[in-house]
Amino acid sequence: MKHRLLLALVVFVLVSLFSIAKVSSIPATPEPSAEPSVEISSSTSLRSLGQKQGIEMGTAVEMAPFYKDANYRAVLTREFSILAPENAFKFASIHPVRDRYDFTATDTLVAFAKAHNIKVRAHPLVWHDSLPNWLYDKEFTREELLAILKDHIQTLVSRYRGQIYAWDVVSEAINRDGSLRDTIWLRHIGPEYIDLAFRWTHEADPQARLFYTDYANEERGRKPDAMYELMAGLLQRGIPIHGVGFQSHRWLDGPPKLDALVENMTRLNNLGLEVQFTEVDVQIQRGTFGSREERLVAQADAYGTLLKACVITKNCTAFVVWGFTDRYSWIAGLTGQLDAPLIFDESYHPKPAYYALQKVLNSEF
Ligand code: XIL
Repeated sequence: MKHRLLLALVVFVLVSLFSIAKVSSIPATPEPSAEPSVEISSSTSLRSLGQKQGIEMGTAVEMAPFYKDANYRAVLTREFSILAPENAFKFASIHPVRDRYDFTATDTLVAFAKAHNIKVRAHPLVWHDSLPNWLYDKEFTREELLAILKDHIQTLVSRYRGQIYAWDVVSEAINRDGSLRDTIWLRHIGPEYIDLAFRWTHEADPQARLFYTDYANEERGRKPDAMYELMAGLLQRGIPIHGVGFQSHRWLDGPPKLDALVENMTRLNNLGLEVQFTEVDVQIQRGTFGSREERLVAQADAYGTLLKACVITKNCTAFVVWGFTDRYSWIAGLTGQLDAPLIFDESYHPKPAYYALQKVLNSEF
């Protein structure tokens, strides 16, 4: 009886140990997919169609869906040849403490891009937004701020030297009236912060394409005109800059005007600059417009017109959307209202906007 009890105890302990070992060797359960994605052949993907037109098709990539949603990664690699980290390179994310950088997210994305033959458009080195508190905790002198900015730029750029296809070096430096925006950089360093930022970036990675980027700069008006003058000045002073980015966060009221786009883009080309659309999305909720179907058609037209301008303009080299699925877009956070600003719906089904892009890429103009 005693022996039987002992035997039962030994068996019980062994079985328990075995099952603990087994459980710990089971790989983490894969995240359930959001929804089955619709198969679109990779030969009609935006990236392969774009290649035929000499245009890289890209998207912003946000870390949370990137980590947790397999469909997100599948559509990303199938459709796009450029990836733009949506927030990972921003000052507050990557340089949260004065003497500490956090490269976890950017290392992950740069490695992923390399493995999938995707280029990285990194963004932004100098911006007034998304700055960490430590930059405001103290009144830095001009000399200190120059050193901080140079260190920030060169630490990021040299870490990824040769691996970043294009950098947005300075972002949103111009107000709508054409004056320079009052930022910590302008106030403490003066307007030459722009020249210096480009020089420091070029020094750290001479091969990367360097961009100035802004919003409401793609057509005509005081802001695009001021940007044109700023670009001409940079080039005259021999500053290493290769292109201009048009963010193009848009909504349905005031659809894009093809003529104005092409005219503005062509004058920048004539300065010797490349142009790219860098953050395209088109909100459908703002303004009065009719049924949802009508809004989606108008949205598709807007996407199509922007891409058509890119195809028509000689030196327009990339078209990047600011996220690709309505499941994850920054617009709800911005407006406080759910929208559908992107080219795939929440279940990764292509929307009319997706087909409008395909159609433009399949056309000859
Ligand atoms: C946005 C991101 O999409 C959001 O997730 C974040 O909360 C705020 O910034 N212009 C830019 C982008 O240059 O970096 C911004 O991205 C959108 C506006």
